[in-house]
Amino acid sequence: MTVASIGARCRLPGWESLKRSAEEAAALIENGMTVGMSGFTRAGEAKAVPLALAERARHDPLSITLMTGASLGNDLDKQLTEAHVLSRRMPFQVDATLRRAINNGEVMFIDQHLSETVELLRNHQLQDLDVAVVEAAAITEEGGIVPTTSVGNSASYAILAKQVIIELNLSAPAELEGLHDIYIPQMRPNRTPIPVVAPDSRIGTPYIPIDPSRIAAIVVTDGRDSPSTVLPPDVDTQRIADHLMAFFAAEVEAGRLSRSLLPLQAGIGTMANAVMTGLANGPFEHLTMYSEVLQDSTFDLFDAGKLDYASGCSITLSEARGEAVWRNLDKYRDRLILRPQELSNHPGIVRRLGVIAVNTALEADIYGNVNSTHVCGTRMMNGIGGSGDFARNAQLAVFITKSLAKGGDVSSLVPFVSHVDHTEHDVDILVTEHGLADLRGLAPRERAPLIIENCADPAYRPALHRYFEAACRRGGHTPHCLEQALGWHQAMERDGHMRTLRDDG
Ligand code: COA
Repeated sequence: MTVASIGARCRLPGWESLKRSAEEAAALIENGMTVGMSGFTRAGEAKAVPLALAERARHDPLSITLMTGASLGNDLDKQLTEAHVLSRRMPFQVDATLRRAINNGEVMFIDQHLSETVELLRNHQLQDLDVAVVEAAAITEEGGIVPTTSVGNSASYAILAKQVIIELNLSAPAELEGLHDIYIPQMRPNRTPIPVVAPDSRIGTPYIPIDPSRIAAIVVTDGRDSPSTVLPPDVDTQRIADHLMAFFAAEVEAGRLSRSLLPLQAGIGTMANAVMTGLANGPFEHLTMYSEVLQDSTFDLFDAGKLDYASGCSITLSEARGEAVWRNLDKYRDRLILRPQELSNHPGIVRRLGVIAVNTALEADIYGNVNSTHVCGTRMMNGIGGSGDFARNAQLAVFITKSLAKGGDVSSLVPFVSHVDHTEHDVDILVTEHGLADLRGLAPRERAPLIIENCADPAYRPALHRYFEAACRRGGHTPHCLEQALGWHQAMERDGHMRTLRDDG
């Protein structure tokens, strides 16, 4: 890893006159402003200015609307929440303190498809941005911003905001320069097709082009990204991966997929990462990824010689993986690209490429509707993230979940999900540790027995079968006993568990 000198990183003539401390830069953010910050899945967030803002708010209260790419690292959402800086937050988060504030109604959280935020902003359907705060690995001679480990929404935020604060991070590997591909779709109604035709299509510039006169401050930093919290595969996630590998092999056998499959997308979290890791030992070769976040598994696949190319909008790695990747970035550099999330998650491109999308459900119902966000229909977990961008448009929309949560107290397969993020129309394949339900071309009455038998935990299967049989006696295209449909969640709210529905309960 090369740590280039400050002059090599900041090539904008006269930049020294814009140099400010984090506190001075944070002073540009005023009460009531709308602020866009870099950061996507704990990667590439502006680190110093948000902390200085939180610090200031502790003695000089202020609140803002904060937009990012996705989640922030370094406990920034926690610090900002504790200092009561956040009145509105979008489009995604994963922080426990912020989650509590959202669920208490203290912070208004706008849970968005991650491809959509900047489209709404560009069309003035959201409040215009006052300030953008973007982390950079370098600033070019013309004032172009070279992002660090994520692009997320940084490009459009920097282009659309009235003022731009750049955090120039000297600890970011200098080799990041050249990895990014920044392309901004034209304004409607005269937009031309976005020319991404393969995961390795390069269609833009390696920096965010902005008018340097809008740079209000440059803050020099050296903080690191937080390591990812992904856990290694366990027995259940390994089984989920095995079921999916067997399914892919059968699709190849049937001639519906080649041995290089199709560009892969894997969602956030431990389960999706485990499934991707499973491909390292599978028979598939010359794989590609067209994904959102690139996790440890991407580099496992590169090292196993299975993956040819990966396109994403952020790189989020565990401590050990991060050390190795950032030290040897040259080894991977010509097989990686980081795009704005508007492009990495673009529904049109996802459909064009025929992406295989693998995302995680909190719960699914017997007809294939998926809840990815709300515990018991009310309490926000993280947000829909990019799962909807991919699932609706994928060639194969796969959802994975363990059949049980909370040590068996909760069945992840229920009669009716308590909140719908992905409708039955968008879900092709459902997988748990017990098996896989291939829902393609099946009517609701055909899906239910398959999902119950293949995916539900055996202890909860009899109650699910009883529900389905009673519902069928009432009739309907999608049979339900509406007064019982949410009974499993009512049990959860009342008793704190669903054990009374288990056959052994
Ligand atoms: N009812 C209640 N809680 C449940 C549950 C259910 N049916 N299923 C899971 N949970 C809880 C777990 O107990 C765990 O809680 P804890 O953190 O208190 O231990 C939590 O949800 C996370 O589950 P886990 O099994 O650790 O899975 P994960 O890390 O793979 O995350 C999601 C799963 C669904 C929360 C996560 O994938 C997500 O936020 N998805 C939505 C966004 C998305 O899909 N983005 C992808 C595009 S990049």
